[in-house]
Amino acid sequence: MAAIVVSETMEGPAMQQLAQRFDVLHDAALWREPDRLKAAIAGAQALIVRNQTQVNAALLQDAGALKIVARAGVGLDNIDVNAATEKGVVVCYTPSQNTLSVAELTLGLMLTLARKISAADRHVRGGKWARRQFMGVELAGNTLGVVGFGRIGVAVARIASAMGMKILAYDPFVAADAPILQELHAQLLDLDTLLQRSDFVTCHLPGNEQTRGLFNAEKFAAMRPGAFFINVARGEVVNEQDLLACLANEGIAGAALDVRQTEPPREEPFAAFEHVVLTPHIGAFTEQGQRRVLEAVCRDVAAVLSGQAAQDFVNFPQPPA
Ligand code: MLT
Repeated sequence: MAAIVVSETMEGPAMQQLAQRFDVLHDAALWREPDRLKAAIAGAQALIVRNQTQVNAALLQDAGALKIVARAGVGLDNIDVNAATEKGVVVCYTPSQNTLSVAELTLGLMLTLARKISAADRHVRGGKWARRQFMGVELAGNTLGVVGFGRIGVAVARIASAMGMKILAYDPFVAADAPILQELHAQLLDLDTLLQRSDFVTCHLPGNEQTRGLFNAEKFAAMRPGAFFINVARGEVVNEQDLLACLANEGIAGAALDVRQTEPPREEPFAAFEHVVLTPHIGAFTEQGQRRVLEAVCRDVAAVLSGQAAQDFVNFPQPPA
């Protein structure tokens, strides 16, 4: 019986080093088969996951030896932290290790939308050269509305501000006198006002009961007709049917989606739109980001299995005595 079960793809030097110290079962298909996963973790001390494995009360029920669930990422929407806490299982994650990677992808998507880069690429690959079709806009001087002003939202705002964008922010957990607002000359607004005033709206909210379906027909209707919408956070925050309807009516100018309601999507209705950019949840996927994420996760798993404290814990650093 393995001490550590890894239920999604997780590769890198940190994982190799962990496997030299502990018995690791790495099966990247386990997340798809809850019964097999449940059997695999029945005697395990640690479970390492990304965002696909649903770590819920049913899964943890018979995991009597489990000491730690480690989430290689920042979102905790696939982890029932309360259920783990009740069982005395440490939950740790990587709150800041992929921040820059996600922020840079966001800027990449904004530039791709602003300059129609992916459509232009398809155009040239098709043997064409009608460059006037690809008149774009500059980011500088335009207004960016950042919805969710946590680590990633702030990192995006910093880069965008340095590029000459004006920053608006919406975040119910940020105080009006937060120093970061002053530093970036950012204005904290209610969501509807932010949507009405932004040329680009980027979403950095966590996926939870409060945010599910937040971007619906009403919110898209509040956006400017020439605005762009970017989501690199969680797919469930967006009502995709409402976004499709908005795009079909030219309610906004375009959208970039790195995350989806269902991953992978069963069908791809957004493919019909030239001004939509689609990527397969790659925000955190850079060599540097993943190295930091895996180092942190492996560090905390090794610590807890050796009777020491985890650093990036959500509930407690060690299983309660
Ligand atoms: C995260 O939550 O860290 C990112 O969305 C990446 C992931 O889920 O694997």
